[in-house]
Amino acid sequence: MYTLGINAAFHDSSACLVRDGQVIAAAEEERFTRIKHAKRPVPFAAWELPFHAIDYCLAEADLELTDVAHVAYALDPSLLPDTGRSAATIALPLEPSAQPPARADDPGASPWEPLFLAYVMNAPRQLAGGAPHHLTRRFRGARPDGPYRWHFVEHHAAHEASAYLAAPFERMAVMTLDGRGERATTTFGLYRDGKYRRLKQVDYPHSLGLLYEDVTRHLGFLHSSDEYKVMALASYGEPRCLEAFRSLLRLDGEGGYRERGERGWTMEHAYYGPGYSDRDIEALLRWSGAPYRRAQNISDETAELLARGRIVGWFQGRMEFGPRALGARSILASPIDAGMQQRLNALKDREDFRPVAPVVLEEALGDWFTPAHANGGRAPYMLFVYDVRPERVVRIPAVRHVNGTARVQTVNRAQNPRYYEAVRAFGERTGVPVLVNTSFNSRSEPMVCTPKDALECFWTTPLDALAIGSYIVQKSGSTQARS
Ligand SMILES: [Fe+2]
Repeated sequence: MYTLGINAAFHDSSACLVRDGQVIAAAEEERFTRIKHAKRPVPFAAWELPFHAIDYCLAEADLELTDVAHVAYALDPSLLPDTGRSAATIALPLEPSAQPPARADDPGASPWEPLFLAYVMNAPRQLAGGAPHHLTRRFRGARPDGPYRWHFVEHHAAHEASAYLAAPFERMAVMTLDGRGERATTTFGLYRDGKYRRLKQVDYPHSLGLLYEDVTRHLGFLHSSDEYKVMALASYGEPRCLEAFRSLLRLDGEGGYRERGERGWTMEHAYYGPGYSDRDIEALLRWSGAPYRRAQNISDETAELLARGRIVGWFQGRMEFGPRALGARSILASPIDAGMQQRLNALKDREDFRPVAPVVLEEALGDWFTPAHANGGRAPYMLFVYDVRPERVVRIPAVRHVNGTARVQTVNRAQNPRYYEAVRAFGERTGVPVLVNTSFNSRSEPMVCTPKDALECFWTTPLDALAIGSYIVQKSGSTQARS
């Protein structure tokens, strides 16, 4: 039994002939037509089938098209976004290229989509009746309905099958990434006992492949064509744009991702409140007569104070929105000191049974708390409760609640660079990349908002130091470690 496989909808059109599960012949159309990639990867070229490659495959087995039992086409139009599939006719502007996107909900959608859909749906007719004149011999007798059975195959199912059916393993993980199929752009799954199970897919418009194409285009190369040149160039590069690219994607912690498009807003941080410049802050400090000094590196000097057992008011950048202190208006302290919870509750005049929460470097979450993979491996808004790893309790006793839990905040550099640096620098000194982070206020007071609020709270509580903007204010008598 013969099966003819056709790849034609997007780019690099090709054909393959399989006999009883074994590949007999396979070739790309460009090798015969001498047109690189065979055709342009544009919707209005979707009608072009790889007739020369098909003719070759049939010739290799000395067949005509009507001898094959199945024809498989590597795209399923029933899975495409519905741009008129259910109607008998398509609506197409006279000049699609001059039109805005086809769908308001998808600015990336091509105005050619109805035509693309029609071309794909007509592939059986095109195969039966569209062969170039000089190739008609092997195509004679074919009709749109056969005699072979036509199969539209989901695009990524075709990619997946090309991996697990060809691989020499009985059990394997399979992953596919391309620009896009009908909807899927990335899939992964498990093949075992002769069966494949897809575990997850990422759908268009989120696509690492299309991002790769954008980079290719940005560098002046031809997309869907010259990506291999970008791959070669990458070896010469420095990862200067790594953070920018990281910020383009949001991982869901379960193997999937979403792009942070310009289509929708994504919350990257909670620092949407008032912020104050160093100039404003210094003017207040000078006016109030507070003993302040400018720090060379506010994060580093704060970490040093914390490592020496000081409790520091941390006032940095724009204030966080919501009930939790997230490193803009926080009181920071060492978690290593078992008595710190009591000290802080006394300082804030709170009930002594109330726990204090930790902030940990995002990359160190799993070393200190469990289950680290939950919530996508990050908790930037201090919304989730974790267990302190039993072997770590002795190092961070101050942040472990009586039931073994801690309400953790994670921080990464992009989210809040100064805060991240303070935690990191504390970790460098102590081996513990964790700090106590509690709200900058005293009992029944809202968190501080302005520099004046911070100064007032600082002077009316036993805080040892205030790290405010680029300045440090310290009380006399707090120069020695407390414990
Ligand atoms: Fe693909």
